[in-house]
Amino acid sequence: MGTLFEKTAGRFKSYVMPTYAPQIMFVRGKDARLWDDEGNEYLDFAAGIAVCSLGHCNERVTAAIQEQCSKLVHVSNLYMNELMPLLAERLVKNSLPGGKVFFCNSGAEANEGMIKLARKYGNKTGRNHIISMDNSFHGRTLATLAATGRAKYRKGFEPDVPGFSQVPFNDFEALEAAITPQTCAIMLEMLQGEGGVFPADVEYLKKVRALCDEKDILLLCDEVQCGMGRLGTRFAYQKFGVEPDVITMAKAIANGFPMGAILAGKKCADVFEIANHASTFGGTPLACAAALAVQDAFDKDGVLENCEREGEFLRAALAELGKKYPFVKTVRGMGLMIGMVLDRPASGLVSILLKDKMVALSAGETVLRLVPPLTITRADSELAIEKIGKALEVFAKQEGF
Ligand SMILES: Cc1ncc(COP(=O)(O)O)c(C=O)c1O
Repeated sequence: MGTLFEKTAGRFKSYVMPTYAPQIMFVRGKDARLWDDEGNEYLDFAAGIAVCSLGHCNERVTAAIQEQCSKLVHVSNLYMNELMPLLAERLVKNSLPGGKVFFCNSGAEANEGMIKLARKYGNKTGRNHIISMDNSFHGRTLATLAATGRAKYRKGFEPDVPGFSQVPFNDFEALEAAITPQTCAIMLEMLQGEGGVFPADVEYLKKVRALCDEKDILLLCDEVQCGMGRLGTRFAYQKFGVEPDVITMAKAIANGFPMGAILAGKKCADVFEIANHASTFGGTPLACAAALAVQDAFDKDGVLENCEREGEFLRAALAELGKKYPFVKTVRGMGLMIGMVLDRPASGLVSILLKDKMVALSAGETVLRLVPPLTITRADSELAIEKIGKALEVFAKQEGF
């Protein structure tokens, strides 16, 4: 009668809009392992695209969700919710002093809100233009698409939302030249994810910070992918030592339970006033319970230390592997956001890995992107290196080397 995947694929084709084309179906997960509908085990170095950072079905998060969902799931933000301010406090106390948080449900929604906040801040002085970076990715809503530095995502959805322009990443002169009297904010990912695991230069960021201070421009940091421990620090900016004015987060904040957040530092913590912004599901007791469990794990389980340790090990081992193949240009990244940069599309390598039961990703066409759970063991890392080594050999043959 066909596998569960085949039956589901038929229904998917009939009833689900074809924005994705899944080729495989996972039915269970634990830590850095996934199992498909036929019982095959996979090593997961994608973590739901940097979402399940504590691994699948983390005990703390599962227990918190189970407990909270038998007490109260949702009440509306019209009523006080004990857990939301507790979570906001935990986030602020670990980042920008004097900051405040708005909770929502996804990365795009967080960025959309951050854009609104920047416009409201700037409009007081007649400024509402935002400069973002080439190759950036900020989401699929209309305003976040306008901020995204890849025109292909906007194609077919014209007209573009006005008030955005892009400049090359890590090019301070280009950025400085693009500033106009209308500029209210500069928006960037300190480590670009979708664009190809591309980090900002610290010196560049320092100059951007100084420029923002000089001209009263807000520095907006999209930490949706690179934040929440992924680089080995709780917030991505802490790795670079340059403070933004506003941070967005989502993906890993509740280890797979949908949540997004905008954290505005002191300068713009009170820009949003009563009824300025809202979200029906933003910061429900259930989402906050999951996110608080993630914060507990950061405080108590050595997650960040493990991320640094395994990240270093993997980057060194991958660089060593890469030396054997002329099509591997370099290995870059920080913590457990790692890119092996090829001189050709990386999708073939991702497919070979999947056949060998390892889930990995590509980014920016030519980069093999690894964003495993931050809780991986040394044995997981060693298995990944073994599988990538084998996959590179197969890929080399396929490519005629
Ligand atoms: C840096 C960054 N910003 C925003 C988003 C959009 O997040 P979401 O898909 O939750 O809307 C993503 C998603 O990949 C991202 O990587």
